[in-house]
Amino acid sequence: VKVYVPIDSTALSLGAERTAQRVVQEAQARGIDIELVRNGSRGLFWLEPLIEVETTQGRVAFGPVQPKDVASLFEADFIHALSDRAQQHPLYLGLTDALSWLKKQQRLTFARVGITDPRSLEDYLAHDGYQGLSKALALSGADIVKVVTDSGLRGRGGAAFPTGIKWNTVLNAPAEQKYVVCNADEGDSGTYSDRMIMEDDPFVLIEGMTIAAIAVGATQGYIYLRSEYPHAQKTLNEAIRKANLAGYLGENILGSGHTFHLEVRRAAGAYVCGEETSLLESLEGKRGLVRFKPPLPAIEGLFGKPTIVNNVISLATVPIILDKGAQFYADYGMGRSRGTLPIQLAGNLKQTGLVELAFGATLRELLYDFGGGSASGRPIRAVQVGGPLGAYLPESQFDTPLDYEAFAKIWAVLGHGGIVAFDDSVDMAKMARYAFEFCAEESCGKCTPCRIGSTRGVEVMDKIVAGNNHAKNVHLLRDLSDTMLNGSLCALGGMTPYPVLSALNHFPEDFGLSNKEAA
Ligand code: NAI
Ligand code: SF4
Repeated sequence: VKVYVPIDSTALSLGAERTAQRVVQEAQARGIDIELVRNGSRGLFWLEPLIEVETTQGRVAFGPVQPKDVASLFEADFIHALSDRAQQHPLYLGLTDALSWLKKQQRLTFARVGITDPRSLEDYLAHDGYQGLSKALALSGADIVKVVTDSGLRGRGGAAFPTGIKWNTVLNAPAEQKYVVCNADEGDSGTYSDRMIMEDDPFVLIEGMTIAAIAVGATQGYIYLRSEYPHAQKTLNEAIRKANLAGYLGENILGSGHTFHLEVRRAAGAYVCGEETSLLESLEGKRGLVRFKPPLPAIEGLFGKPTIVNNVISLATVPIILDKGAQFYADYGMGRSRGTLPIQLAGNLKQTGLVELAFGATLRELLYDFGGGSASGRPIRAVQVGGPLGAYLPESQFDTPLDYEAFAKIWAVLGHGGIVAFDDSVDMAKMARYAFEFCAEESCGKCTPCRIGSTRGVEVMDKIVAGNNHAKNVHLLRDLSDTMLNGSLCALGGMTPYPVLSALNHFPEDFGLSNKEAA
């Protein structure tokens, strides 16, 4: 019987390693023959470590299973998970695929996550792995780019720029050497979808990068990996080694004549290195200082050569698009936001974890149907969407559909799909101050609005909270935000006003102001 215990960091941080050891020890002690499979996480974090047992009807889940619970599971004969005794165990959850958290999702990018053993190329191949690449190998570079363009895929790092158009720029830039760089410096608070792909389905990212390289004629790729992701580093390096050995990477990929070498580079822990040009500087061995644009990285990127820089999720979505076709992907979503978005629920919620849905679902559905409301039991007062530089949304905006344009209309961003919930004990003035503090801490220092404005912002916020000359200081805060918004060289300084002004506009009472004074 196959027993699945996740190897994803979330599960590991909740004790999955010791649970796995206990499962093996108990099975041996009782003379029961099991095959332990270390899978990725299904993304139901409040139930981790979530262990599964294979049955004739599909996998059955139990969770959260702490090491101390393992003996009782064996007592209840959980190996025969369809038996009455197993079903009476307090940690019995039922068929995994029937759990409403999973049943309500549309998992395309995350189709294999939690299902396969991330370290097994055989398992990847057995679950439609490398189908996208084999189809891409039959196409010209321009045709691959067309499929990606037609799918409507937009950059999932946050900026939502059409991926196919970016690739087309690189394809048409004449050069001896081109690069594909994966931005895996996932720095947004409350986000982890990149990490899950890299730890739980690394071959899909490798496949996506290989397709990108073949499309534009690049022969070298780098994954710029967040330094806080040691498990992802290990898993990726192992997967790259296996893909090389099996002929999916390196010289003459699957006999096609194409070459693509791929390496992982560990970042040094600066938030701004998630900005593409500062990432390229860092990759070149220099300090992560933002470059002026133009030239775009697509024309003059790594070492001055045409470079695709895409986020993990954008690249990991390419294989299914090539496999199932542009139309299949474009059929999901709403408006100009096509396909699905892996959403990461975090903060004060009963149920947090990974939810992949077609664009169009509302925040309210995510917070209540998936999240189950606040963990504290108090009303949810605000949510921050899109990382530390995303806007705070009040309850009156919870019916906004997840769609890039709908969010832009209410002066908010979807970013990388991170949603952090706060209950009514939150002090929004503190959150606004924190945004400036964060910006001051992480600023690369190249431009004045961000380098100086962030520190002045902290000071102005302190004066407002202290109740000093409200009208004058609120005016100053708006003026400063306007300068940062329009005068900053990159999104770090340029987006800091989003959390600040949204907090001020939607929650003026926390700043000691009436609505009229805030305006
Ligand atoms: P941007 O709008 O300047 O650029 C978007 C992308 O399109 C870039 O890669 C740019 O090089 C490319 N591009 C633009 N025109 C092009 C053309 N004609 N041909 C080819 N490529 C072209 O946005 P930026 O500064 O790259 O990203 C800002 C976003 O990053 C924010 O919206 C924010 O949500 C997100 N972000 C994400 C974080 C994360 O952890 N994932 C952290 C912080 C911010
Ligand atoms: Fe550097 Fe901030 Fe200017 Fe960006 S906005 S270039 S991080 S100083």
